[in-house]
Amino acid sequence: MYATKTFVASTLLAIVSAQTTPNLTALIADTPSLSGLGSILEAYPNIATDLASAENVTIFAPNNAAITALMSTGALDEATEAQVAAILNYHVVPAVVPSSAIAETPTFAPTLLNDTAYTNVTDGQVVEVALDGEDVVLTSGFKLTATVVQADVNFTGGVVHIIDSVLSVPANVSTTAIGAGLTILAGALQATNLTDTLDTASDITIFAPSNLAFAAIGGTAANLTTAQLTDILSYHVINGTIAYSSSLGNGSVATLGRDNVTITVTDGAVFVNGARVINADVLVAGGVMHVIDSVLNPANATAEADPSATTGVAQFSGAVSGSSIALTTGLPTATTTYSGLTATTDDVAQGYETQTGGAVGTGAGGSQPTGGSGGSGSSSSSGMAALPTGAIGAAALFGGVALLASF
Ligand SMILES: *[C@@H]1O[C@H](CO)[C@@H](O)[C@H](O)[C@H]1NC(C)=O
Ligand SMILES: *[C@@H]1O[C@H](CO)[C@@H](O)[C@H](O)[C@H]1NC(C)=O
Ligand SMILES: *[C@@H]1O[C@H](CO)[C@@H](O)[C@H](O)[C@H]1NC(C)=O
Ligand SMILES: *[C@@H]1O[C@H](CO)[C@@H](O)[C@H](O)[C@H]1NC(C)=O
Ligand SMILES: *[C@@H]1O[C@H](CO)[C@@H](O)[C@H](O)[C@H]1NC(C)=O
Ligand SMILES: *[C@@H]1O[C@H](CO)[C@@H](O)[C@H](O)[C@H]1NC(C)=O
Ligand SMILES: *[C@@H]1O[C@H](CO)[C@@H](O)[C@H](O)[C@H]1NC(C)=O
Ligand SMILES: *[C@@H]1O[C@H](CO)[C@@H](O)[C@H](O)[C@H]1NC(C)=O
Ligand SMILES: *[C@@H]1O[C@H](CO)[C@@H](O)[C@H](O)[C@H]1NC(C)=O
Ligand SMILES: *[C@@H]1O[C@H](CO)[C@@H](O)[C@H](O)[C@H]1NC(C)=O
Ligand SMILES: *[C@@H]1O[C@H](CO)[C@@H](O)[C@H](O)[C@H]1NC(C)=O
Ligand SMILES: *[C@@H]1O[C@H](CO)[C@@H](O)[C@H](O)[C@H]1NC(C)=O
Repeated sequence: MYATKTFVASTLLAIVSAQTTPNLTALIADTPSLSGLGSILEAYPNIATDLASAENVTIFAPNNAAITALMSTGALDEATEAQVAAILNYHVVPAVVPSSAIAETPTFAPTLLNDTAYTNVTDGQVVEVALDGEDVVLTSGFKLTATVVQADVNFTGGVVHIIDSVLSVPANVSTTAIGAGLTILAGALQATNLTDTLDTASDITIFAPSNLAFAAIGGTAANLTTAQLTDILSYHVINGTIAYSSSLGNGSVATLGRDNVTITVTDGAVFVNGARVINADVLVAGGVMHVIDSVLNPANATAEADPSATTGVAQFSGAVSGSSIALTTGLPTATTTYSGLTATTDDVAQGYETQTGGAVGTGAGGSQPTGGSGGSGSSSSSGMAALPTGAIGAAALFGGVALLASF
């Protein structure tokens, strides 16, 4: 008797759920692992109403473990309603993206987060979405990752994928550089008064030399005038285009400085002039940073990629190495560094799409994942995967300010 009843009940349930796709409110209420998210929405009825009325969207919904990790840091206690809205908007992609449309080649999906208090990516700050083995993995600010633990839960407004950590809204250039251990770059930007310019710029791409790259020319750099240093740093910035790895191809691209840089994409590796990208797609508030292994020289625009080089090739002839540490004087020190950001390997294993139409694809705001465009790129994340601990994710929610000792 009991068995039969159960059978009948579950059959009825199957029929009911096949007939009615729940609205978001009902879905969250009926999904035990989303009760934490439900509580937050209950506390912010305006946000809940906005979210519930969204149509044709994909929501990356943090599960209870993710919300608990966030709560345990106290981050939400002090958050304003606008901040909570910003965080949640960063979890919503204005397109229905079933998991079957997500491929190994990363895509950079614009989200609903377009408030300039939190992002200067004009088409909406992006989240990197890619298939890693069987897992759908999202990469957000500071290269912190979240994994989809339950995909393809339909609701009337689109689809929900449940994730295991809260996404981190990308921080500005200086905060990200310091958190990434790119302290000499951060110091150099400060010394040239470029920090504010880049922190508040919209839609930019920065080729960010690692500390080792600066050290290789440290002795020479120490004798540069501020004007020369400014000239060099400006040569590392593309203004007006966000070139995620997926949109980089062979070609020439204008920089903020006087000359163009040459992008070369070989089998799995990306070069800017003679410098190799060693950590791609570090999302920042105004666009994206790619960490490179040597400092670009605006007087050496003809420097060519050397795929056989195992360490950065200095772009300055006769450069003298040395500590550029003076540049970092007065910088806040990061109390936590992100393993995913520290460029210690020369492995930028990403699935670069080959492109023929210029050095960077058109469109500043990234691209939506689309079905059937799966590349065959390697998805090895050696040296790139961040530790997705809840505490780090939560502290980093707004620019990692809590991680910086002397702010
Ligand atoms: C959502 O669905 C529930 C259950 O069907 C219903 O009671 C509620 O009114 C719906 N909410 C909205 C905003 O449509
Ligand atoms: C959602 O998509 C459907 C089907 O493509 C379309 O008819 C509808 O207008 C869209 N709604 C919104 C709000 O964009
Ligand atoms: C942000 O997006 C919303 C809806 O997606 C739109 O109405 C608004 O104009 C956008 N704001 C900016 C500053 O682009
Ligand atoms: C975006 O740029 C504006 C200046 O145009 C600046 O005030 C704001 O702080 C920037 N936003 C972020 C998140 O850095
Ligand atoms: C979810 O919605 C998609 C269309 O957006 C549909 O193809 C799919 O069959 C639905 N899945 C379920 C379990 O209803
Ligand atoms: C940077 O800005 C400060 C304050 O505005 C100014 O005193 C200093 O001269 C500037 N430095 C350079 C290199 O422009
Ligand atoms: C960059 O972000 C940090 C941390 O949020 C903030 O303190 C700083 O004011 C920002 N810089 C600018 C120029 O907006
Ligand atoms: C830097 O300048 C000092 C003083 O002019 C000089 O002695 C030194 O050789 C220079 N170093 C480099 C690497 O050019
Ligand atoms: C980038 O280009 C925009 C539009 O041309 C311009 O307003 C802005 O000042 C430029 N940014 C920098 C840092 O030069
Ligand atoms: C510099 O790059 C721009 C595209 O950003 C291109 O239109 C222009 O032709 C390039 N200039 C040179 C000298 O290659
Ligand atoms: C240009 O860069 C190459 C390395 O890519 C280096 O061998 C060469 O010496 C540099 N030339 C000048 C003039 O700095
Ligand atoms: C880009 O240039 C490199 C070196 O010249 C070449 O090996 C590669 O095949 C080119 N890629 C494309 C897509 O043309």
